[in-house]
Amino acid sequence: MRVSIIGSGYVGLVAGACLSKLGNKVIFIDTDRKRTEAINSGVCPIHEQGIDEMLSQVHIEATPDYSGIIDSDLIFLCTGTPSNRDGSILLKHVVESARQIAGVLREGKGNYCVIVVKSTIVPGTTEEFIIPILESSGRKPGDDFGICVNPEFLREGKAIYDFMNPARIIIGEYDSRSGDFLSSLYKGFDAPILRTDLRTAEMIKLASNVFLAAKLSLINEIGNICKQLGIDTRKVARGMGFDDRIGNQYLDAGLGYGGSCLPKDIRALIAKSKQIGYKPRILEEISKLNNIQALRAVELLKKHISLKGTSIGLLGLAFKPGTDDIRESRAINIVQSLLEEGAIVKAYDPVAMANFRELFSQIAYVSKEEILDCDAVIIITEWEEFNNLDYKNKIVIDGRGVPKAKEARVYEGICW
Ligand SMILES: NC(=O)c1ccc[n+]([C@@H]2O[C@H](COP(=O)([O-])OP(=O)(O)OC[C@H]3O[C@@H](n4cnc5c(N)ncnc54)[C@H](O)[C@@H]3O)[C@@H](O)[C@H]2O)c1
Repeated sequence: MRVSIIGSGYVGLVAGACLSKLGNKVIFIDTDRKRTEAINSGVCPIHEQGIDEMLSQVHIEATPDYSGIIDSDLIFLCTGTPSNRDGSILLKHVVESARQIAGVLREGKGNYCVIVVKSTIVPGTTEEFIIPILESSGRKPGDDFGICVNPEFLREGKAIYDFMNPARIIIGEYDSRSGDFLSSLYKGFDAPILRTDLRTAEMIKLASNVFLAAKLSLINEIGNICKQLGIDTRKVARGMGFDDRIGNQYLDAGLGYGGSCLPKDIRALIAKSKQIGYKPRILEEISKLNNIQALRAVELLKKHISLKGTSIGLLGLAFKPGTDDIRESRAINIVQSLLEEGAIVKAYDPVAMANFRELFSQIAYVSKEEILDCDAVIIITEWEEFNNLDYKNKIVIDGRGVPKAKEARVYEGICW
């Protein structure tokens, strides 16, 4: 099929590369010219396992010009949906892309195509915002074009695997013609397909992320209690995880969750609940607990060393291993707090230092060996290479459970 991908970020690039690999003709539309130029010259603008190789094997084109979508069968909307100040979702990019698509529909040849919303949005957004904009083209949904909501569940760092091997494919459909059309794209995938209405599909995505965030905040809360009782939460989590009803994933106690999805998706559902007059008590607590969890690293460190004028080395800046994404990384909260305490901050990450430098130019970016020359070390991201370092004689606060770090002279785990 001829597929347009609007927004070539972590989701768009992966979806486009995979769909191209599966034999579809893919074009990327992105307003960021640097990004489209990079893609066209064979340079992948993100760090993601396997994507460079995949992009080198397929023929794709990228352009800022929306007229590139004119012959498409499917148009995937993959632009970012970050938070507004009040936690609700900033719809600017999605709305702007919908306007541009409407412009092409208006001028277009009138061939039937399906617009597929992959961006994460709160229930009702497609019906209340996106469809009216598309209708402003003078074309009729159902007759001239179709609409689906097809949320993405990939994990950064394992994104290609997840896209190719989804646990489920959710298709929210405007009508059965739209849903049939999109289902045909996925016919080779070995995954259950659940077809729903548009707002149910939007909610499935948010509810899934909120559930994962809840699991993490819950195990962190249990972990904070365990720490005081002298119990290793990781063993408790292991024991819990054997139970199929609980499952062993997303039970890693530590500094809390970050990234571009869980924190903002939970805020979005809180904001939507309040908008309809419902107070989401549990959701608010999940989010609050996560906001303070990372700062436990600084509190634990203060038990062992005074921070003013002391050099503190940070291992890991990405929100998780396998990515250069630093959006809402726990490293941000920790650096802010250390700077407020007057510490001298040095940091190392194998791939995320360039992104982090754009947020914090005032800290030093050094090699991992130089981190070990600091007065104390905080492990923030569990990159495998951190398990090969010599931590002896160091003060180490371990936020992620790196086994080798236990050899440190002074060792504190966050929840163990
Ligand atoms: N990153 C993830 O792991 C993940 C997983 C599942 C779902 N999602 C959701 O997918 C969506 C995209 O996330 P992402 O991480 O890929 O975002 P991103 O910020 O990495 O990429 C968004 C891209 O859209 C481009 N863009 C912005 N406005 C545009 C416009 N008007 N026209 C064309 N391009 C435009 C940007 O230049 C950027 O390249 C979000 O809604 C997110 O919540 C993300």
